[in-house]
Order: sequence, then structure tokens, then C-alpha cells
Amino acid sequence: MHILVTGATGGIGRGICEVLALQAMPELQLTVASTQNGERLEALLQALRDLGVQAHGVVGDVTRPEDAQGLVHEALDRGGDLDALVCVAGASGPGKLADLSVAQWDQTFNLNTRSVFLMAQAAYPSLKRTSGSITAIASMSGLHPHPGYGAYSPAKAALIMLCRQLAQEWGPEGIRTNTVCPGMVRTPLTESVYQDVDTKARREALVPMGRIGRPDDIGHAVHYLISAHASYVNGQNLVVDGGVADHMLSMIPGRPGKAPLKA
Ligand SMILES: NC(=O)c1ccc[n+]([C@@H]2O[C@H](COP(=O)([O-])OP(=O)(O)OC[C@H]3O[C@@H](n4cnc5c(N)ncnc54)[C@H](OP(=O)(O)O)[C@@H]3O)[C@@H](O)[C@H]2O)c1
Repeated sequence: MHILVTGATGGIGRGICEVLALQAMPELQLTVASTQNGERLEALLQALRDLGVQAHGVVGDVTRPEDAQGLVHEALDRGGDLDALVCVAGASGPGKLADLSVAQWDQTFNLNTRSVFLMAQAAYPSLKRTSGSITAIASMSGLHPHPGYGAYSPAKAALIMLCRQLAQEWGPEGIRTNTVCPGMVRTPLTESVYQDVDTKARREALVPMGRIGRPDDIGHAVHYLISAHASYVNGQNLVVDGGVADHMLSMIPGRPGKAPLKA
């Protein structure tokens, strides 16, 4: 089993890699992609090797078509055909739409949406040979508008549709494509928010499960989607958010158990 993971050195990416490494998948090889060689990539490779996995590191910028091709080709050279592509690389880009520059809009779409198209296209011949799968990390922001987050919600919404379309176009070739929508997950991307104890507590209070998500929560969802247990799951979006995105109606005043509305 050979899996290529982009954004592997980030919080969720590393969590996914570690969950996959712990699942005792037969002859697992993980190729982990980062934007740069260095301590973080080396530390991840060492951690995965310590878990008994054959791990390879590849470097590139997923927003660049030539790098996407290069990442896949290098992965194939190192570990043979891909059984799964997991696209994690992404980032939100705060900004109000009224002020957002075209360059910021393009950057957010290039990183969160176009990169998955580029990686999927580069991996397509290999995934076709293995009847492999693609799993992309979207966001609850792709399902609900996220005011103040610039083009992030539109970009993740487009990513979910891109993957549904890939599922239709490549399903007949044996390639399954799905997305995972994390809710609030504590990672380097969001760490500054959770440093504030009050903000952390207020965020936790919004989640029916009473806690902020962990990278391994997303890792287990990805493991399921790339496993044989999901062999009939194609074009789906798995929300892993502790129930937070659905809790909007519980905020309406006047429901049973809450203080009555004043006349
Ligand atoms: N954390 C959350 O609450 C949350 C919630 C919903 C969705 N998500 C999504 O989950 C994914 C991972 O988020 P995270 O919280 O783990 O963030 P993170 O810790 O900041 O990791 C982001 C990863 O993306 C990679 N990356 C960024 N730009 C890249 C580029 N141009 N080319 C290649 N790789 C690039 C980074 O690689 P390097 O480190 O090598 O530069 C990093 O590994 C993102 O798609 C994010 O939108 C996160």
C-alpha cells in the first residue's frame, strides 16, 4: 500500500500520517510532501520510520503545476504506483470580501482548490492502475459561509464539488474520490486562537462533543475512506466536527429549557 500525503508536516497532515502508520496496513509506504526540506520533514520521516513504516519525503509547492507533477513522479520513483492520494495542503486567508485583492482570491483558490485538481490529474494514471482513491481535506467552511475569511469558504466549497465531479468521471475507472470536512481542529494553523483560554472555552462550548478536534480525529476518517471498508463510498463528504456545524438551531432563544423570550 503506497499513499502520498500533501501538507504532511502540518497539524492535520501529520495526524493523518501517524494514524495511517498505526493501522498496520500491509507493507505500508508513506510518501510525505512538504514545501521544504528541513527539520519538520526529517522529524516526521523519523517518527513514521520509528512506527515501522517505509517513509519517503518529497518537496514541492502544490500550487505550481510542474511541482504537482514532480511530487507525484518522485513518489512513484520511490514507492511505486499510488494506492491513495491524500490532499491536505491548504490554508485559510482572512480578509473581508470588500477589501480582498484579486491576488489574494487567486492564492486561496490555487492552494485549496486548484492544487487538488493538479495533484489528482498528476496521480490519475497511477491511481487508475491500482484502482486507488483520492481523499481531500475540505472544511466546514466549505459547507457554511465564513464571514471574514475571504475566499476560503468559496474555495473549499469548490473543492467539495471538484471531488464529487472526479468521483463521477473517474469512478468508472475504479478511482474513488471523497472529502473530509473538519470542524475546529487545534493545529499550528489555529494554535494562536487556542492560546487564549477564554476563546478556547467559548469555542469548546459550541461543540456538542465538548472539545476541540484533534488531528487524529481527521486521521481516522481518512483511514476509513481509503480502506476497503469504504470500497462503495464515492463522491461523499464526511463531516468530522463534533457536531458543531449543525448546532445553529440550538442558539435560537426561547426553545424548551432556555429562558423564555421577553414579551
Ligand atoms: N485546523 C483546522 O481547524 C482546520 C479546519 C478545517 C479544515 N482545515 C484544513 O485542513 C488542512 C490542514 O490544515 P492544518 O490545520 O493542519 O494547517 P497547517 O498545520 O498550517 O498545515 C498546512 C499544510 O499545508 C502545507 N502547504 C501550505 N501551502 C502549501 C503549498 N503551496 N504547497 C504545498 N504544501 C503547502 C504546509 O506545508 P509545509 O509545512 O511544508 O509548508 C502545511 O503542511 C488545510 O487544507 C486546512 O484548510 C483545517
